[in-house]
Amino acid sequence: MEEWYKAIEEASSVESLESIRVSVFGKKGILAAEFAKMKTAANEEKAKIAKDLNIHKGKMTSLLAERKMTLQTLELRARMEAEKIDVSLFSSRSEKGAVHPVMDTMDKIVDYFASMNFSVQTGPMIEDDFHNFEALNLPKYHPARDMQDTFYFKDEMLLRTHTSPVQIRTMLHTKPPIRMIAPGSVFRRDYDITHTPMFHQVEGLLVDKEGEVSFANLKYILEDFLKYMFGDIEVRFRPSFFPFTEPSAEVDISCVFCKGEGCRVCSKTGWLEVLGCGIVDPNVFKAVGYKDVSGYAFGLGVERFAMLIHQIGDLRSLFEGDVRLLEQFR
Ligand code: DAH
Repeated sequence: MEEWYKAIEEASSVESLESIRVSVFGKKGILAAEFAKMKTAANEEKAKIAKDLNIHKGKMTSLLAERKMTLQTLELRARMEAEKIDVSLFSSRSEKGAVHPVMDTMDKIVDYFASMNFSVQTGPMIEDDFHNFEALNLPKYHPARDMQDTFYFKDEMLLRTHTSPVQIRTMLHTKPPIRMIAPGSVFRRDYDITHTPMFHQVEGLLVDKEGEVSFANLKYILEDFLKYMFGDIEVRFRPSFFPFTEPSAEVDISCVFCKGEGCRVCSKTGWLEVLGCGIVDPNVFKAVGYKDVSGYAFGLGVERFAMLIHQIGDLRSLFEGDVRLLEQFR
């Protein structure tokens, strides 16, 4: 028996301890064999043998449990030591980051207009009905509100559907003349390969004395801007409608993919629509209390520019946070 006590105490792993346990307590183990000897022992000795064996059994059970605990603790410690990671170590592999293509495009747009003396203005993403719609000549129940369905809060607050409300905010707190752009995030209830619920716009507004601002001024700067962004392209203005401008136009560039030949991206037309613009509607000036002024305004979607510049097919891929997309822009 003594040798088994010694074996338990000296077991060096949980695994070897387990095989000792089987040798002692198993069906064919030494305790079973000792108990079996009782059958042939003299009657008066049986009680003593049973008592002794039960004492051994008890002692060995607790000795085994104790040794098992000790070995488990030692093994855990050894494992932790072996698998230790020093999170404060410097890594020799340093990955370079990249500017997101949407922000990169936005920066380029802002750079152009800053060079033309336009100031950069901002406004809140949670807007009220007045700034987002009403003051932009979009009265309640006007059907043009349908083009810009958004997410609403209580008390006529909403996620702004465009950056045009920043025009209103700027005019309300500054006197003319004004030359401003407003870059920022906007929100709409939309989701498909060319629409995401959040996207970015840059709004532009120029206001000066009555009769000083013409459509020709607008046409000149937008053509120059679009050539700065896309290089050697054709630009055309198409009559359109926006409640906040009159007259209004949409601006197309010759397709950057097929050079105007007609392809899948431009739906075989050879043209791509890139922005909206026009001469500021008198109702907008009335809403902000401006008199004897004239102005032009324009608005564009930054993602659309980024997609055309970098030839990105699915707009949603810009917002999936997949580093493989960014790695292409390092
Ligand atoms: N706010 C318009 C939109 O989100 C874009 C726009 C068009 C802005 C014409 C303008 C403009 O200032 O004159 O669709």
